[in-house]
Amino acid sequence: MYSLSRTIAVSLCLASWACTGPSNMDQSATSPAKDIHSYANTAEVRVTHVALNLDVDFSRRSLVGTATLELDGSAAAVILDTRDLEIFAAETSPDGETFAPTEFQLGASDPIFGAPLTVSLTPGTSHVRVRYATSPQASGLQWLEPAQTAGGKDPYLFSQSQAIHARSWIPLQDTPSVRAPYSAVIRTPPALVAVMSASNHPEAPRTGEYRFEMPQAITSYLIALAVGDIAFQQMSERTGVYAEPSVVEAAADEFADTEKMMQAVESMFGPYRWGRYDILVLPPSFPFGGMENPRLTFATPTLIAGDRSLVGVIAHELAHSWSGNLVTNATWPDFWLNEGFTVYLENRIQEVVFGPDRAAMEASLEVTGLHEEMATLPEKDQILHVDLTGRDPDDGFTQVPYVKGMLLLRTLEAVVGRERWDPFLRGYFDHFAFQSITTADFLAYLEANLPEAANAVDLNEWTEKPGLPSGAVVPQSDVLTRVDEASQVWLAGQNPASAIPLKSWSTQETLHFLSTMPVDLSVERMAELDAAFGLTGAQNAEIISRWLLESVKRGYMPAYARLEPFLTSVGRRKFLDPLYTALAATPDGKKLALQIYAKARAGYHPIAQTTVDKILADVSDDD
Ligand code: BES
Ligand code: ZN
Repeated sequence: MYSLSRTIAVSLCLASWACTGPSNMDQSATSPAKDIHSYANTAEVRVTHVALNLDVDFSRRSLVGTATLELDGSAAAVILDTRDLEIFAAETSPDGETFAPTEFQLGASDPIFGAPLTVSLTPGTSHVRVRYATSPQASGLQWLEPAQTAGGKDPYLFSQSQAIHARSWIPLQDTPSVRAPYSAVIRTPPALVAVMSASNHPEAPRTGEYRFEMPQAITSYLIALAVGDIAFQQMSERTGVYAEPSVVEAAADEFADTEKMMQAVESMFGPYRWGRYDILVLPPSFPFGGMENPRLTFATPTLIAGDRSLVGVIAHELAHSWSGNLVTNATWPDFWLNEGFTVYLENRIQEVVFGPDRAAMEASLEVTGLHEEMATLPEKDQILHVDLTGRDPDDGFTQVPYVKGMLLLRTLEAVVGRERWDPFLRGYFDHFAFQSITTADFLAYLEANLPEAANAVDLNEWTEKPGLPSGAVVPQSDVLTRVDEASQVWLAGQNPASAIPLKSWSTQETLHFLSTMPVDLSVERMAELDAAFGLTGAQNAEIISRWLLESVKRGYMPAYARLEPFLTSVGRRKFLDPLYTALAATPDGKKLALQIYAKARAGYHPIAQTTVDKILADVSDDD
């Protein structure tokens, strides 16, 4: 039943790991997908259910308990992904009821991939149970002091599993090519509430024990947990907001269009298949704008601008309920299938809910961002189907999978028109629902079902080559063209700054105006803008971060007073990365960056710390 050669292959694979990286021949639902970022021997055994039973220990900053994995397949051992986990015991069971101890071995730890946990199986094993504790440094968890929350009284914990951080809080097959339902029992201090990417019960009394079910098969990077003083406010029959009590009302108002957004996607691309759609607003150290945890999007509080102008991020995370959570990238080089499709859908949602002008502005801003970033990227990172061999999949987090991916879909759409494109896309979601697929799977489906579009563009150039193909259909925004005109008049000295209609502009117009100011704009002219519009006092997080960035680039000192308060209060990587990078470009700026970072670092999420550590270390190497 257990082939010796397989066992040997597993051992060799572990022994030679240092030079080859984790490797296995994986079998996704549709085609073989080799996940180079997981140690799991998924060709032999696959996890079919995950059951968690965890105590949340704030004093030790540790989750302690068990993960019980149901297995399909047979092998001498199951290899799980872990990072910084303390393993107390492993057990096997033939029925999920009675467990007996088994041998296990924790391999050497790699800084990017963590350590393989090899658990010996006996014939007839259907379940494996691992007793473990997480490290206070777990890369996928952030433990917050009460002072880092809005309420200031209770501690807070949240997870962020994408891309390969689930392994730092759960021993499992941490690969998006494997899908499984999960359940969980989470014990917390009695004053606090736990929520997960699963069935949540807003009215549940605060008993300190919470039970969750995610009956649909999802991938490991979508398992999510948050614990804190969390309240709930309903928005529509099936949407609501979770947040700290002092934030929940503003959040519910900001995101009031969520139901309309859901209906917009449903009318175009098929039903929402996950039951409820709720949003959890996290404390400000949350390192992303949003994270599409199924049934419970995690969001940064910096979206709460008071005017609903930043809810494009909600449209984006909601869209992942189709592109990403329903049809999922099988490996991280296929990440553009998640994000490119999602940026495309996000824009279609905005078009329906906020109108074509707003949608065109957002798309056009995204393309500006792509060009900006592409100019700084080596050619290998300008490729949609990116090679991440030996690299952290978080390195693939650039505008390329997002915006170049979106442009490919727009270009295909333009070939056949929406009458044919929309049903194709809807068919794609139905066909691959609850499956993990590769770039090749998508291309084969496109060639089979929309050959006219497939033949009209050079798909190989799009997915395998750097740069932007010349035939790319790029969005145009008339509204932003008018902003350019107003900008030109001011730059030419024909008007004072006060004549710029900035006060009547949307956030998107203002962002476009600020991000297209000429590099050599003088600090006097920056001061003129600031005096007219109070930009240094801006409250909108996108606007203030853009203004600070442009100020640092040009050494406009009056804005610097805002740098430290901003960088020590917000941990969203999108804001930190450009600001620290711009500061680090000059010796004085770098000095200031290091000073601020010394105060800010402890409050940042491990993922953000890694990003900023790298920025400031790279620069000191050049000194
Ligand atoms: N899934 C991503 C966030 C992510 C990607 C986390 C890769 C870890 C690894 C999420 O959907 C996302 O793209 N968020 C964006 C916002 C969006 C509007 C572009 C963000 O956080 O900036
Ligand atoms: Zn996304």
